[in-house]
Amino acid sequence: MTPDQLKKTIGAIPDYPKPGITFRDITPLLQDREAFAAAIDLFAERYRDSGITQIAAIEARGFIFGAALAKQIGCGVTLLRKPGKLPGATVSQSYQLEYGEDSLEMRADSLNSNDNVLIVDDLLATGGTAEAAAILIKKAKAVIVEAAFLVSLNDLPGEQKLQQQGVACYTLCR
Ligand code: PRP
Ligand code: ADE
Repeated sequence: MTPDQLKKTIGAIPDYPKPGITFRDITPLLQDREAFAAAIDLFAERYRDSGITQIAAIEARGFIFGAALAKQIGCGVTLLRKPGKLPGATVSQSYQLEYGEDSLEMRADSLNSNDNVLIVDDLLATGGTAEAAAILIKKAKAVIVEAAFLVSLNDLPGEQKLQQQGVACYTLCR
């Protein structure tokens, strides 16, 4: 299945969760076993043998793609979670969303300078979430290999925001 075929399995819901937002719905892609497998295979082709030690997966939809890809390429999963979900000492970074504000947390002991990290999420919109992820990973002094998304929204500045952080993006569907 090609990225163009994958794109056809992603829904567009007008005015959700707020008027003016077109919500890109990945649930039909997840329910289509060929489409989900193809998405993970396309990512795996790019990242297999690239020395990635950890996938930093962003709650919640990023967990789905991050965990499946980690199994495929043989690396660990570092969870970047919404506030108050992780035990022990954490580092935290707040950010603006297309439809609100939130923050991400990571366990303080989860990454170090020996780690080569791939950020994974389902979707890049304003880039606020992924930028917060990049800041957390940098705080741990780990190397960011790239950031990978199933979908990037062309009319929002997510990629530029990540470029400013020195992080390259890879996207399957625009
Ligand atoms: C969505 C999406 C990304 C983020 C992208 O998550 O899964 O993580 O928004 O937006 P941005 O580029 O403007 O930051 P959301 O916060 O809605 O949470 P969810 O995955 O828990 O549904
Ligand atoms: N997260 C941020 N913006 C989004 C959108 N337009 N569709 C789905 N998830 C999103």
